[in-house]
Amino acid sequence: MHIDILTVLPELLESPLAHSIMKRAQEKALLQVQTHNLRRWAVNEYGQVDDYQYGAGAGMVMRCEPLVNAIETLQQERTFDEIIYLTPDGERLNQKLANRLSLHQNLLLICGHYKGIDERIRQHYITKEISIGDYVLSGGELAAAVLVDAVGRLLPGVLNDETSALTDSFQDDLLAPPVYTRPADFRGWKVPDVLLSGDPKKIDAWCYEQAIERTRQRRPDLLDENKDQ
Ligand code: 6GU
Repeated sequence: MHIDILTVLPELLESPLAHSIMKRAQEKALLQVQTHNLRRWAVNEYGQVDDYQYGAGAGMVMRCEPLVNAIETLQQERTFDEIIYLTPDGERLNQKLANRLSLHQNLLLICGHYKGIDERIRQHYITKEISIGDYVLSGGELAAAVLVDAVGRLLPGVLNDETSALTDSFQDDLLAPPVYTRPADFRGWKVPDVLLSGDPKKIDAWCYEQAIERTRQRRPDLLDENKDQ
């Protein structure tokens, strides 16, 4: 998968994508992430990409010309499956959406700043708008990093143990069960006997039961059969 990211702050995206699983995914060439500084397409020599908004509202808005020139330049290299604008009023990111996005070849992510981007770009270029939760961030960059991580780890071959994404929380609409490691007894706090039993059937049944119980207690909304309708 190839992901292009359009931003006025490429530095913000460097570290989150340079370590751990995202680093390995890129080293293995399963994922290519390229950031592009929007100021390259600024309207003047001062690097201006924003302007005052029409109407009474306070705050700056990202102008059409830099965005369109950037998008059309990148479109000469790739055909994007989706052009995604990261915005708090977008569709909420969840595991299902991450799964769906992981099936694409080329994504373009656009990070907004200030009061957002001119509405005409949303109407004519953006194919999908995504939010990472009901709170406001200062810009779309951290949200883009979250999206790239959530999607990138799902690409075949990225995780060492191919089954491990399948047992993540949310993957089957259940939270993950509790996990333990050595020692089996720490200060008298014991690991549940069943996990030491060596009986895979019993262990699976216990894990499933725990996942259901944890989900029922913490996120009963995930168990609601009608939640996707
Ligand atoms: Cl995608 N952008 C911003 N600025 N804030 C957010 C968000 C995105 N998702 C949640 N809050």
